[in-house]
Amino acid sequence: MKLIIPDNIASITPYPPGKPIDELEREYGISDSIKLASNENPWGPSPEVVGALRLELSNLNRYPDGSCYYLAQAIASKFEVDPAEIVLGNGSNEVIEFLVKAFVREGDEVITSHPSFLMYQKFVQVRGGINHIVPLRGMKHDLETIRETISAKTRLIFIDNPNNPTGTIIEPLELHSFLGKVPETVIVVLDEAYVDFMDISSRVDPHPLIRNSEDRCPVVLLRTFSKAYGLSGLRVGFGLMAREVASCLHKVRQPFNINQLAQVGARAALEDEDYFQQTLAKTRRGLSVLAAGVEKLGCISYPSQTNFFLIDVRGNGDDLYRAMLHKGVIIRSMSSYGFPDFIRVTVGTEEENTRFLAALADCLADLGYV
Ligand SMILES: Cc1ncc(COP(=O)(O)O)c(C=O)c1O
Repeated sequence: MKLIIPDNIASITPYPPGKPIDELEREYGISDSIKLASNENPWGPSPEVVGALRLELSNLNRYPDGSCYYLAQAIASKFEVDPAEIVLGNGSNEVIEFLVKAFVREGDEVITSHPSFLMYQKFVQVRGGINHIVPLRGMKHDLETIRETISAKTRLIFIDNPNNPTGTIIEPLELHSFLGKVPETVIVVLDEAYVDFMDISSRVDPHPLIRNSEDRCPVVLLRTFSKAYGLSGLRVGFGLMAREVASCLHKVRQPFNINQLAQVGARAALEDEDYFQQTLAKTRRGLSVLAAGVEKLGCISYPSQTNFFLIDVRGNGDDLYRAMLHKGVIIRSMSSYGFPDFIRVTVGTEEENTRFLAALADCLADLGYV
């Protein structure tokens, strides 16, 4: 075989997903492990979702509705937008991919922050675009430097708000002031995967942003069913955007990108508001229990408006990650994100949180960190 691999593909490091529980148990010969590594909802999908999926199983011989009519209607009514302002993806990841496919040509520039969600840069690399990566300043997006990095070749700016992995947010006033300075030819993508966990006073109103009523740059808001709605495994996310932007994204997507179960499950999840609110309340409680617990162990916890947070373990994060694996607890080491002494932990169930804190106490003692 004589493969000719383009440079932009050869240089891509595949996305490192959180270690799956099955893989850990296979490799270590252990059972009863827990995963607090991928910012998932630990309580599972709503029982309404499970019921709706069961009923749908016998319809899988048919292609799904390529327009996602009912799901788009449900999202439109919940978020008070028009269905023409929504683009659904196989996870919000796919909407990110559509944006890059539709708007970035070889040599075009895209601005992202570091650390932030890694997939933005990878899609740009696949496309042969140029990534300009702006380091966070004080754990937050450095909007000033991002603005200074814009050139005539800039097509997209990706900003995850809240940021993954720091959990920090941009205040609405700061964001609006930034958007007012971005040229009208640059699309700003606000990735709001964790918006449901944010304080209400810090959230931006999507309508004036996507409708571009103030004659400034187009803004796309990304949302997902993978986090607060507990449907990571179904893969559904969506973008809210001006219909002109949406029509470009529809040109680059496959006709049936959202499978039938995903369409039905996401609709049922939207309808179960009680379950959704319970998830938010339990997440907030879990976050404060975990933060207090790790501080008690001598670590430093960083405030977060998401379902995860960073912990400075005051020692090597990679070693701690490995020690925790032996205890059947999967977390994330933050060394590849530029924080060698940090780990990132997702809120689990009460039981999982207790187990995490006990394992952390043991591992910190074994490693002699605090
Ligand atoms: C900031 C951010 N954006 C997007 C995603 C992708 O989510 P999904 O493709 O599951 O909707 C994630 C996943 O962890 C994320 O952290």
